[in-house]
Formats: sequence, C-alpha cells, structure tokens
Amino acid sequence: MSAASAPSQAPGSQTILRGRLLCPDATRPALQEVPDGLVHIQAGRITAVEPAPPGCALPETLPGAIWLPGFVDTHVHFPQTRIIGSATGPLLDWLASSVFPEEARFKERAYAEAVAEEFCTALLRQGTTCASIFSSSDPGATDVLFAALARRGLQADVGLTLMDQGAPPEVLLAATPALEAAEALIARWHGRRLRFAVTPRFALSCTPALLRGAGDLAARHGLPIQTHLAENHAEIAEVGRQFPGCHDYLGVYADHGLCTPHSLFAHCVHLEDGAWDRLAAAGAAVSHCPDSNFFLGSGCMPLDAPRRRGIRVGLGTDVGAGRSFSLRRIAASAYDAALITGAEVTGEELLWLATAGGARALGLADEVGRIAPGLAADLIALPAPPARDGQVLCDALVHQRDAGPVWATWVAGAPRWTLADGASHGDR
Ligand code: GUN
Ligand code: ZN
Repeated sequence: MSAASAPSQAPGSQTILRGRLLCPDATRPALQEVPDGLVHIQAGRITAVEPAPPGCALPETLPGAIWLPGFVDTHVHFPQTRIIGSATGPLLDWLASSVFPEEARFKERAYAEAVAEEFCTALLRQGTTCASIFSSSDPGATDVLFAALARRGLQADVGLTLMDQGAPPEVLLAATPALEAAEALIARWHGRRLRFAVTPRFALSCTPALLRGAGDLAARHGLPIQTHLAENHAEIAEVGRQFPGCHDYLGVYADHGLCTPHSLFAHCVHLEDGAWDRLAAAGAAVSHCPDSNFFLGSGCMPLDAPRRRGIRVGLGTDVGAGRSFSLRRIAASAYDAALITGAEVTGEELLWLATAGGARALGLADEVGRIAPGLAADLIALPAPPARDGQVLCDALVHQRDAGPVWATWVAGAPRWTLADGASHGDR
C-alpha cells in the first residue's frame, strides 16, 4: 500500500497523481467525476487537473481508489479526544461530569503533547486535512496543538477556548490573561495554513467583559470566530436568565461583536426563524454536528433553514460529543437528521458539505476543499465501491458503514497517512 500510494514523480520535481477523481463544484452542492484523471502538483498546490490523455504511460497511483479532496471538519474539540463515547449527556451534565475534568488535564504539557499527536493522527486516518478546532482554555496546550498541526502540515483554525465563568476553577482563565495569551498565540502562529480563531466556548462560560474582549480581538486582527449556539433547551433557558438584556441567544453574540461574516456557529438546533434571518443577514456560517446532537439528545438542526436562506453550512464531528472523527459517518448522520426534520439531502450534497461546503463555511474556499488549480493538494483515497457511479456512488461512499477505511491521506501533495501506517479499529 505505501509503495502504491507514493506519488509519481515527473521531471522538475512536479508530482502527478493519476486516478479516478470526484471533484466538488465551487458553489453548487455537486461533484463531478473524472473516471481517469491527472492531478498536477507543485510546491504543495494543485497546478492543473485534466483527463488522462489516450495512451498515458503514467501508472494509476493507487489502483481501485477514488480520490476526493481531504475532508473539512468545521467543529472539533482537541481536548475531548480521549473522552469520546462518555455517555453522560445531556449537554450540561456531560460538560460537568465528563468534559471539564478531562480538559483540566491539559494544563500538564506532557499530557497535551501526547493527545495532540493522537488527535492529528485521528484526523489524518479519517481523511480530514482541514479542521476548525477548539483547544482547551490553557495557552500552553494550545501552543502544543499548533505545533503538532504544523508538523503534520494540516490546514486548521485553532482557538484558545475562552471561559471565565460557569465551570470549575481549574478550567477557567480570567479575561485579561486569556486575551493576552491569545495575542501571543496570534503573533506566534496566525498565518495562511494555521489561523488563530477567536473561540468563546459559549455564552454561559463567558462574562460580558470576556465576550466584548473577544469581539474586539477578532475585529482588530480580522480573525475567524467560532462558538456554540442554541444546542440544547436547558442551555438556552439558562442563557436567557444570564443575559436578560439580550434579544435571544444569537443576540448575546451580536451584542458583543461576535456575529460577523467570519463567525461560525456550531449546532443551531433550536433557532427561531427570526434568529436564522439575522444569522443570514450577518453572513455568518453554521457547523452542523448531527452525530453529537444524536449522542447528547439535543435534537436535529433543520437543514432547510440555512439552505433556504443561503447560509453557508459545513459538517462538524464535534468530537467528543461526536463519536467519530470520520466525516463520512457524520455525513450519514446528517442524512438521518435531515429526514427527521423533513428535509431531503443526497449523498452527493453531503460529500460536498464535507469538503467544498465546509471550506466555504470557514472562508477557505480558495485554499482547500476542491480538486482544482490553485488549491492545496490535500487529497484522500477511498476504496471505490465496485461498479458504481453518479448518485449511487456518492450514496455508497456516505452510507456503507462497512466499506473500508481511508487508504491514503495526502497533505500539500505528500502522503501523510496510508493504510500501512495502521488500520486499527474504527477506521470507518
Ligand atoms: N457547549 C459548550 N461547550 C461545549 C462542548 O464542549 N461541546 C458541545 N457539544 N457543546 C458545548
Ligand atoms: Zn462543540
């Protein structure tokens, strides 16, 4: 497998990949299949994509594979890697009994370093090459995570999780030191491949001063913003009690400069029509995390609400409330959630949401999420289901849970994970 997945080298150190390609469209939720294609790669980026010419002498890079862009996970928690499957929901109970004690461990650098390696490997093994990530509230752990992502060459938005109230003292960091630590992390890491994301955990974990400081920080540096919104009924009721002066849950963020075209709101399970309208008017995006919503019994986001309004949507694993790093599994859960809410969604649209749609939601449409010239050569090889094409192919890729694991994950034009690196349990 590793030999077969090695890229073919051509003169001038250009890499050329030959294989069956599934290419997401830039704007429409559609994929175009190229049955036998060449992807030209130079300096980590795609320079050209074309059908293989008749009589092409280049061997197929990985026979039997179908190539897609790497998956984009628009919402995942690094310090929850080791508590996946902790069945202590619903949300607020799960946070108190499973999440906060685990996240407190990330004050210890050696622990953060070990989990950061596990986390990056878990992303690559499932074909995720771009992610929007919550770290813990510890600046040292966040620095460790940035360093691990940089070593693997991954594309990521990473946030120091801001929380100065509503949790045990071990996981809280006051507004002033938190914002100072954020400035230092921005200076050290914020760039093209890795970006610093302003990350208030959720309204209940932040004082108004911290929310305002977060909004100012994002505006000053032009940073992406990520947080949770309207996930669970008890959470929403408590937000109403703590922020009586705000119009609603979205209003808490809007009043503190946190509802902008660079904002990404995870969940949005229980938003009213007016809030959906305001979210659309702000140009903000949504991370749909259906597996997490099922696991915590939160409900189902109505996919038609953002679709009707042209709101950008990506898929999120939300590990560790989500039970898997696999965007294919999350896509299948999104199908189940859509049916429950009366929406129709195809396997093709779901694969698009897991790639180009996610990249658009993160504002990274010109960087990742498609197999197209100018974009990063972040590509994955999946075992092609036998004798299938079109819609049936996409459905099979999403829904066949017993299909094999990801065969190879390339980051910036080089294989960073292949099946030979360890097909352990749970690869699908
Ligand atoms: N709301 C606040 N924090 C969290 C978290 O860690 N996970 C989920 N799913 N929701 C949250
Ligand atoms: Zn989350």
